[in-house]
Amino acid sequence: MEVNWTLGLVSCITLFFLILISRKKTATNEKRQPPAPPGWPVFGNLFNLGTMPHRTVAGLATKYGPIVRLKLGSVNTVAVLNVKTATELFKNHDLTFVDRTITETSKSHDYDKSSLALAPYGMYWRVLKKICTVEMLVAKRINESTDVRRRCVDNMLAWIEKDGSLAKVGSGVYISKFVFLASFNLLGNLMLSRDLANPDSKVGSEFFDLMLGLMEWGGHPNISDLYPWLKWFDLQGLRKKMDRDMAKAVAIATTWVDERMEERQKEAERRGEQRKDFLDVLLDYEGTGKDEPEKMSKKDITVFILEIFLAGSETTSSTVEWALSELLRCPAKLTRAKDELASVVGPNQKLEETSIDNLPYLQAIIKETLRLHAPIPFLVPRKAGQDTDFMGYHIPKGTQLFVNAWAIGRDPEYWENPDSFEPERFLGSKIDYKGQNYELIPFGAGRRICAGIPLAHRVLHLVLGSLLHEFDWELESHMSADKLDMNDQLGIVVRRRQPLKVIPTKVKC
Ligand code: HEM
Repeated sequence: MEVNWTLGLVSCITLFFLILISRKKTATNEKRQPPAPPGWPVFGNLFNLGTMPHRTVAGLATKYGPIVRLKLGSVNTVAVLNVKTATELFKNHDLTFVDRTITETSKSHDYDKSSLALAPYGMYWRVLKKICTVEMLVAKRINESTDVRRRCVDNMLAWIEKDGSLAKVGSGVYISKFVFLASFNLLGNLMLSRDLANPDSKVGSEFFDLMLGLMEWGGHPNISDLYPWLKWFDLQGLRKKMDRDMAKAVAIATTWVDERMEERQKEAERRGEQRKDFLDVLLDYEGTGKDEPEKMSKKDITVFILEIFLAGSETTSSTVEWALSELLRCPAKLTRAKDELASVVGPNQKLEETSIDNLPYLQAIIKETLRLHAPIPFLVPRKAGQDTDFMGYHIPKGTQLFVNAWAIGRDPEYWENPDSFEPERFLGSKIDYKGQNYELIPFGAGRRICAGIPLAHRVLHLVLGSLLHEFDWELESHMSADKLDMNDQLGIVVRRRQPLKVIPTKVKC
């Protein structure tokens, strides 16, 4: 009897301590999680986000600090909101967060399995990244295609002039449409030596429309990503639309690859003699076959083609549109940019890429635009590959990570008057967007930094510089600079909520 009583007492005490330890452990874990705004059952913080999530999430820093935990539907997410935390992330935790979150629409036709931007950090990613950075997007090959870019920009200027002359007095043209077409053609020429956004090319126009579709379905918030168990129902029909358009886009791109393969077989001797485009580089690829593939598969090449269009066209057009919007609100800065171009390029001359280095104010305008209007404000979301300790917080494996480049570009500890457009802040400054200065990361940083920076750098300066040099710009007659709506909306990239309409007047020299 006594023994039973003693045993019972020991069991009770043990149970008490076990409960105490487990409660303490839970409490410690909870304590170590980043702070989070209160959420709703099932929905979590979805309703906190609003229509401009990069802005809303940035605003949470005031109350919760620079690392915030969010529950988006069922997806655990952490957002990094200032320069200090981004620096710690890229310097010491880049490898932990090197993989991407894969969305439901990106799984369409196994796109994600061949994509460079979504590939897990491994052999396939390394091979593609090497091809990009060593063979395609390097100064030598970019220099070889200078004439192609000049031609695409000249076409754009001619379209704008024509459209402007047809517009009613006092009304303008949608500038981003033309910049988008030019960027698209430019990428089409680099990839495939084709003008795709050409009104005379039926298949080109179809491909163009399909790519717009892929951007729209891919950029739309999707319930299937927030509640993966609902993905089978595809409640918004996004996966269905993505499957439909992806199938057509892949079919068109595959025809181009097939045609080129046939052509190359017929003219084997052509190789090495003419300028190679990106498709030639991909078809020429020869790996060891040991720890890398021997050849690129047709499917991988096709997806690569689509990816370059998706990555490079809307990002460019949105940046140029924002730059022009900001300049139109500050006429003195617009004049200063035009004066610089007039003195460096000269009247009756076209802006050439070789002059970009001599245009510090134009460069400052591009940096300042990207600081205020990072086109991909959360970068391409990453996820934790393992449980990790990040600045004293416990981040469980699988947590999605948003790096808020929009908030980082406005961190008041690093930027004076962070909300105002002041390109002058970059004059004489060494701060650049190539991934070394964590206060300016519109292209990301670390291992997954944008692969297209050298090309984007050229195109942004060439396009904006040519627009400023060759036209005078005014807002439409019913619009004034202080009334210009500067709100944005988030799709695959952040663009102006109201597309910019401006009146171009060709400069007479
Ligand atoms: C204004 C123009 C552009 C901006 C703002 C931009 C921005 C970005 C950003 C934020 C990322 C994710 C970086 C990260 O997670 O840290 C990215 C990735 C990428 N970008 Fe760009 N991009 C631009 C133009 C281009 C162009 C022209 C190309 C190709 C021709 C390109 C190809 C890529 C690729 C392939 C990746 C994936 C890299 C990887 O995951 O390893 N981008 N870009």
